[in-house]
Amino acid sequence: MQNSKTPKLTVVGAGPGDVELITLKAIKALENADVVLYDALVNEELLQYATQAEIVFVGKRLGCHAYTQDQINELIVSMANRYGHVVRLKGGDPFVFGRGSEEIEFAEKFGLETAVVPGISSALGVPASVGISLTQRKVAESFWVITGTTSSHELSKDVHLASQSAATVVILMGMHKLDEIISIYQENRTDDLPIAIIQNGTKNSEQKVVGNISSIANLVAEKNISSPAIIVIGEVVKNTSKLTSYFQEHFEDEFIFQNLNL
Ligand SMILES: C[S@@+](CC[C@H](N)C(=O)[O-])C[C@H]1O[C@@H](n2cnc3c(N)ncnc32)[C@H](O)[C@@H]1O
Repeated sequence: MQNSKTPKLTVVGAGPGDVELITLKAIKALENADVVLYDALVNEELLQYATQAEIVFVGKRLGCHAYTQDQINELIVSMANRYGHVVRLKGGDPFVFGRGSEEIEFAEKFGLETAVVPGISSALGVPASVGISLTQRKVAESFWVITGTTSSHELSKDVHLASQSAATVVILMGMHKLDEIISIYQENRTDDLPIAIIQNGTKNSEQKVVGNISSIANLVAEKNISSPAIIVIGEVVKNTSKLTSYFQEHFEDEFIFQNLNL
């Protein structure tokens, strides 16, 4: 059945998890949606804004049928032709390891109107929410955001390059490769380089561990930290307001307080 509405796809970033970390523009898109296709990392409380929409979960979750990317692409086009405005709601920002651009490209091939609403990526929002400043004057002049799992299921080679610089490194989808990441840093840097791992950042279920390259594997095992989590490596981890007390407690001898505002 063809719909009288113009078939349209809006790819929307839902932010890192906290329902208040979504944009007004994203909420307006949800209010205006005829269909919402959402992923596993999206906070389901956000679906309350989609009052008129048919809602479909297309993410991967234990015990649930997982849609392939091809099936999702086809669903977008068929739903848009049938109902009108499809909102594709994705965790974080849709263009940061989110395959948002692939979905836009596919939809445009089939003549759909398209739009993008950026979101707060977990890569930036989660460190900030625990007080980690990714750049800091005199400490880190840049940061890298790298995938721990490439399309061929390997750790990105960029981790080798990044570990040789003074940049802050943020690794997404890296928990299964933590041992490999630690070995790379042991080869290229010192064992006391600070590292933080935050699971379910900005959500009620958030868990974090902070240590250094030599201690982090044990801390992760002790606290049973797993995916979805981000790994933040670099001196800035030590210089954060909210983590100061942690470092004073655990690394008293080597701890040098550096004020964030310097
Ligand atoms: C497929 S990527 C999607 C990233 C997303 N587009 C973004 O901008 O945040 C999924 C990975 O993002 C990271 N991630 C997403 N949300 C997170 C959160 N709330 N806390 C920690 N890590 C998160 C994890 O590394 C997870 O495995």
